[in-house]
Parts: sequence; structure tokens; C-alpha cells
Amino acid sequence: MKTINVNLDERSYPIYIGGSILSDKELLKRHITSNQILIVTNEKVAPLYLEIIEKNFVKFDCEIFILPDGESYKTLDSLNQIITKLMKKKFSRTCVLVALGGGVIGDLTGFAASCYQRGVKFIQIPTTLLAQVDSSVGGKTAVNHPLGKNMIGAFHQPHAVLSDTSVLKTLDYREFSAGLAEVIKYGLIRDENFFCWLEENIDLLIGRDSDALAYAIERSCINKAEVVGIDEKEMGYRAVLNLGHTFGHAIETSLSYKEWLHGEAVGCGMLIAADFSKRLGFLEQKQFNRIQLLIEHIGLPTKIHKNVEFDQMLENMKIDKKSRDGVLHFVLLKNIGEAFLTSDYSEKDLKEAIKEYFC
Ligand code: NAD
Ligand code: GLY
Repeated sequence: MKTINVNLDERSYPIYIGGSILSDKELLKRHITSNQILIVTNEKVAPLYLEIIEKNFVKFDCEIFILPDGESYKTLDSLNQIITKLMKKKFSRTCVLVALGGGVIGDLTGFAASCYQRGVKFIQIPTTLLAQVDSSVGGKTAVNHPLGKNMIGAFHQPHAVLSDTSVLKTLDYREFSAGLAEVIKYGLIRDENFFCWLEENIDLLIGRDSDALAYAIERSCINKAEVVGIDEKEMGYRAVLNLGHTFGHAIETSLSYKEWLHGEAVGCGMLIAADFSKRLGFLEQKQFNRIQLLIEHIGLPTKIHKNVEFDQMLENMKIDKKSRDGVLHFVLLKNIGEAFLTSDYSEKDLKEAIKEYFC
């Protein structure tokens, strides 16, 4: 087992990564400081992994909340249901929430923990690759609004992240590849050597080779922990973690959070961001080609979903958390491994870059 620390003074916490973490009888309990536990999960993950987690809490006041599956349930309504459950069960401020699932469950549970009685503890048990390399770490919690992705949320750090790599074997390839999009992101924004490693080892990863997976998750978490340690509340630098997300979030909103997984939208969005960087003269064609090749090789979508309309996508992009005084800022690439934030672009270049990715 590897342990990576997220260093945030009194809000610091460990990320445990390993192949048999869920069957470890002590690890989870070590971070439980209450008799009152609420495990939040969904209909797909519960039959797979709920029993092994529940076993830890035989002598506890342990409640379960099971949501339907999907991004379209990351809503205020689901949040309200969780809060209602906590209140009906008379859970106090010392209770602990446990998020068992992918990024949807993690973001929603974290947000519930951030606002129930002004904030209670929560633990992340991420079960998708995307959640293990990104969403479970860093304390961004949120629900979606019909007009914009993750628009209602809070920064609320978990008390521990338990990433068991063995659970990734039950993921469909589509969900797995969506996670690879966020893995590539770290190489692109700040870790050129990791990008080169990914180019060389992508087939091992696609084949879910356990050593390659453990390495990719560890390297991703080290990168994320460093960025979050520098800029926890995204006053500046943390924005690089959103490479491709302005495009991706607008696609997801246009699709009403159906059709595409978040990582698929991010994969396509990173390609558009790389193209935009190239058009503005920051990124060389040969670097762009390497990015395109890797994204294509993984099988992530390289064209915007057919149900997205160009004007609607542009409109949705205006509601973005990287807007400053109404001006949209983009995370772009100077090179593989070097991202930066800018508002120095022309609308014409932006529209041309996006148009290229409509079928
Ligand atoms: P998800 O939670 O919808 O999971 C994808 C699918 O995999 C779902 O059908 C889920 O039920 C299923 N699943 C989960 N674990 C499984 C397992 N072990 N075996 C089989 N199936 C399993 O989606 P996701 O890709 O994990 O996360 C996307 C969400 O994360 C988005 O809402 C996105 O906004 C959010 N996100 C948040 C952050 C952050 O910093 N907070 C970062 C990136 C993404
Ligand atoms: N996933 C973007 C961030 O954590 O900032």
C-alpha cells in the first residue's frame, strides 16, 4: 500500500492506494470518530462493494443511502434527500459520511457533509478510476444545476481517501477510459515525463495491468496533492486542473448530464483546448499530434456529441467558474507538461477551434 499526503495544515489527510484496501479491517475504522455513520452509494456500486464496507460497522449506528446511478442525479434534490435522512435518523454534528462510488457519489456526499449542520466529517472510497485519480482528492464538492455543471458546491476536504485498485476490474471499458482522460491531464498540465510514460505504457494501462495502474494512480494523486497544497481554493494555479473542462462542462450541460460521462467530455475538451493552444501559436503541431494520438488510442470521443448545438455550447461556456468579471479565461498549453491560464484570445479563434470538433 502507498500513502500520499495532502498537506493542508489542520485539514491534511492521507490518500491510501493499494490492491486490498477494502478488505483491511483496521484502515477505514482508524478514521471513524463517531458511532453514527452514513454510507452513500448508488444502485450499481451497492451490490458490488457495499457489503464489504458495511462489515466494518456491525456495532455502529450505520445507515445506508442508495441513489439511482448517473450524473443526472448529482442534484440539489438528491442532496436534500441525504440531509433529510440524516435528520430523520437524528444524526449529530459528530457523524461521519462515507462516499462509496465514483465522482458523482463523492461530489454529492462531500457537499452534503460540507453543509449538514455547517459541516461534518466525510471519507472518500472512490470506486472509479476517475474518482481515484481526481475527484476524491482536493475537497471540491458540488451538485449540478440545469444551467451549469458543479455550480452549487463548497470546498470541504475529506478526512481520508481509500483507493482500492482491485475495484477497477468491474468497471466497463467506457468508464475506465473516462478516467484515463483525467490521468492524461496531469501529464499535459505539469508532468511531461509522466506523459511520455503514458505514451509508452498506454496499452498496459488499457489492459489494466495492476502495476501500471498503481503507478498511474499514484503519480496522478501526487500531482493533484501538490496542486491542491499550493492553491486549495483555486485562487489561481489550481485552475490548471481544469484543462479542457470549460469545453467539457459546456458539452455536459448541453446534454443535460446524460449521454456522455464527465471524463469523455473532458477528453474531447482537452483536444479542443490543445487545438485552441495551437491556433494561438502556443503549442507546436507535433505536440498537438501526440496529444491527439493518445486520446484517439484510448478511444475517447474526438468529436462533440451530435446532440450538442454550437450556439448552445457557446452560451453554456459563459457560465464557467473560470470567468473573471464576465470574461472567460481558458487553461491552455505552451507545451506538453506546461499549462497556463489566459484571457488573451480572439472570439474568432475560439469559435473556429470549437467548430472543428462538430461532426
Ligand atoms: P460516476 O460516478 O457516474 O461513475 C461512472 C459509472 O461507473 C457509474 O455508472 C457508476 O455507477 C459506475 N461505477 C462506479 N464504480 C464502479 C465499479 N467499481 N465497478 C463498476 N461500475 C462502477 O462518474 P465518474 O466518472 O466516477 O465521476 C464523474 C463525476 O466526478 C462528475 O460529476 C464530475 O463533475 C466529478 N468530478 C469531480 C472532481 C472534483 O475535483 N471534485 C474532479 C473530477 C470530476
Ligand atoms: N478537478 C479540478 C480540481 O479539483 O480542481
